[in-house]
Amino acid sequence: MSLQAWVAIADELAYILAGALFTIGIIRLGRVKSARSGNTLATWGMALAIAATVTWLLVFKRWTAESVMWALASGGLGSGLGWWMAARVPMTAMPEFVAFFNGLGGLASMLVGMAEIPKLAQATRGMFASRLTLARFGGADFAIADSLAIVVGAVTFSGSMIAYAKLAGKLHKNRFGVLGSLPVNAGLGLLCVLFAVWGGFIAHDPASLFLSNWGLTALALVLGVGLTMPIGGADMPVAIALLNSYSGIAGMTTGFILQNNLLIVGGSLVGASGIILTQVMCKAMNRSLTNVLIGGLQADTGGKKDEGYTKVKSTSAEEVAPLLDAASSVIIVPGYGLAVAQAQHKVRELATLLEKKGVLVRYAIHPVAGRMPGHMNILLAEADVPFEQLLELDRINDDFKNTDVVLILGANDVCNPAATNDPASPIAGMPVLKVWEARTVVVVKRSLAAGYAGIRNELFQLDNSLMLLADAKKALEDLVSELKAL
Ligand code: TAP
Repeated sequence: MSLQAWVAIADELAYILAGALFTIGIIRLGRVKSARSGNTLATWGMALAIAATVTWLLVFKRWTAESVMWALASGGLGSGLGWWMAARVPMTAMPEFVAFFNGLGGLASMLVGMAEIPKLAQATRGMFASRLTLARFGGADFAIADSLAIVVGAVTFSGSMIAYAKLAGKLHKNRFGVLGSLPVNAGLGLLCVLFAVWGGFIAHDPASLFLSNWGLTALALVLGVGLTMPIGGADMPVAIALLNSYSGIAGMTTGFILQNNLLIVGGSLVGASGIILTQVMCKAMNRSLTNVLIGGLQADTGGKKDEGYTKVKSTSAEEVAPLLDAASSVIIVPGYGLAVAQAQHKVRELATLLEKKGVLVRYAIHPVAGRMPGHMNILLAEADVPFEQLLELDRINDDFKNTDVVLILGANDVCNPAATNDPASPIAGMPVLKVWEARTVVVVKRSLAAGYAGIRNELFQLDNSLMLLADAKKALEDLVSELKAL
């Protein structure tokens, strides 16, 4: 057998192994305990895939050492930048970071789709002039895959950048003029289809291919902006999961264009897992996907000021410590503010102290508490809080009524009773933690400002609520020292 045949077999085997590593990696990412090893496995899968692809390019595309050097240098630069950025990003900024990276995936697919057409046109110079269209030259499947890579890639790129800007608080608008309205989006979608049909099936000379290629890209970029603009800030996590799925679909279509099986497998995995995550998050927020996409729940990511509460009872660490000391069961509700305060170690210290005093301590984890899926689990895992003490909403919600004290640490929307008793509330129907059913509720936050959804929270002035207005870390430090002194 020739060397080329051996390389072809080795490459296919490497791709199968890489695909298996991606799949096992995703499965392991589903559990906190195995997530780290899942990430490592998938990283090795990617390294193997890159090595196999470079070998293939060397042997079959007769890449020169110079081309390989360029590829490795650009890959190295990208990896280095990715590493540098990921190492620096704070946990609380993870959603916008993910949105940004999703966008780059879409951009890569868009560029591959755009680059393939002129390459074909150049390689077949003269043939197009004899009325040979892209579909007749590369096949209808090629023409369709190429248009899809451009459209889905461009929508993912521009949409993700808008999501990034909204999450980072750099963009508060929901419209740029008429852009973002349903009829304009529908019109843009239709124009994309027309350009794709023209580019793939009608254009038969390099000039029209050039025009259709760039026209389709420009239209799809504007469509991405129009589709993401109307989505409210509080719905952005769902939009990011959806855009993540789009980036997988775009990658998969480039796999068809480049005839790379691993890209098809990898892209499909991202596409499918993104859609599943979208569904899970829609369910957790009790929102339909259509509702999210058309735009409903608006958020002020900066948080609103005091909403004119009149019956709030303020408290202090000195007053709360004896309550905790006398309790037989305490449920801690962590939220975004706990992550901002970086008070995870302090909360663990408080919990340990209470447990030593014979108090049953558990944590209630809401699926969208914080700013990314699993945010609270990761935060508390950093402080080695035992997994068995972390109870999901469904498992703990009926226990609040038998609980002495609920300690809410920087959470707000996830325990807002308006979701259950105010049908007009923007979060009506969203499953929330029924903290108000406990004997005493202590809310730790710095002010009476609203949370992410930007709405009032009646919990603050219920009869059994006490407000401990302070930074979560400072409040926990004070509670620990007060408890030690008792
Ligand atoms: P939020 O409703 O956003 O409330 C967080 C509260 O923390 C704020 O009201 C803020 O009040 C307080 N806070 C901020 N810094 C603090 C500090 N240093 N010490 C003490 N408190 C502090 O948080 P949540 O209850 O976790 O709900 C999450 C919200 O984010 C939901 O609306 C959800 O839909 C949305 N969201 C979720 C995700 C995912 S996937 N988890 C992603 C993006 C958005 P003060 O300013 O008064 O202190």
